[in-house]
Amino acid sequence: MRIASNKLIDCIRFYHAELSNIYDKNEIEAIFYLVADHFLGFERTKVQTNLQSNINQSDLIKLYQCCSKLKKQIPVQYVLESAWFYGLKFLVSPQVLIPRPETEELVDLIVKENQDSVSFLDFGTGSGCIPISIKKQIPSAQVFAIDLSGEALLIAEKNAANHFTEIVFVNADILMDDFSIKLLNKQVQIVISNPPYIMSNEKNQMSQLVLKNEPHLALFVEGEDDILFYKKIINACEHILVSGGKLYFELNPLTANLVKLYTIQSQLFLEVKLLNDMSGKTRFLKAIKK
Ligand SMILES: C[S@@+](CC[C@H](N)C(=O)[O-])C[C@H]1O[C@@H](n2cnc3c(N)ncnc32)[C@H](O)[C@@H]1O
Repeated sequence: MRIASNKLIDCIRFYHAELSNIYDKNEIEAIFYLVADHFLGFERTKVQTNLQSNINQSDLIKLYQCCSKLKKQIPVQYVLESAWFYGLKFLVSPQVLIPRPETEELVDLIVKENQDSVSFLDFGTGSGCIPISIKKQIPSAQVFAIDLSGEALLIAEKNAANHFTEIVFVNADILMDDFSIKLLNKQVQIVISNPPYIMSNEKNQMSQLVLKNEPHLALFVEGEDDILFYKKIINACEHILVSGGKLYFELNPLTANLVKLYTIQSQLFLEVKLLNDMSGKTRFLKAIKK
């Protein structure tokens, strides 16, 4: 199939025709706005007010080629190699998780509650979306971030440079017992993590788009213990979190109560609260260290 003309309206029609087996109408529209912004520099309103305008041939080819990749069920963020998060554009590749809106909610909460905090540590940083967004909002803070994946850290470092933020990135394994001690010789005021939290028995209910494209290292917690990452981070807080410091997690609603219980049983924290996301799901944990 070809795009009927160089008019923007025909490009949109083409995207609807080609992608309707994979996405619903609203999703295709949202994808088209991202694509138009990326290749044409057109924001949503500019698309809407220029439907009858012609785009040049080279842009038409780019839109066509992009649509062919989308048809192969590659997420638009990987096709465009970029994703928006908390008002910033991040470089993404299949080595990093595509940042999610729930995680933006977590960052918003942290930024609003911790304007005076001086040190932050993010476990499992992926694209670096969490530490970079925090550093942008609280420039005086010292921000540390760790990940097991060297490839993810390369992307995170590029993002930090693109946003002119200084973050200390560390290549380390959360699951190694001595990792917190090796990691930093100092304590921080805020610990954050959105660790891998999808259980293997959830795999068959997941979207193929996620399953086939996003890094399994970022998604799944393997083995018997569904909250292993949380436990390791909670235990590490004994050494790395200052007294009065705060711990923030993004959670799997299915294991949220287990994480809360473990946090309480660790006896490291005074206050342990679960919070809902905008869709009403139990999604975050916040705890204050004794
Ligand atoms: C759910 S992703 C979160 C990425 C990013 N923070 C975000 O919110 O978009 C989890 C991250 O943990 C990292 N990870 C997985 N296993 C790890 C381990 N054992 N030690 C350190 N990082 C790990 C993955 O590489 C991935 O980047």
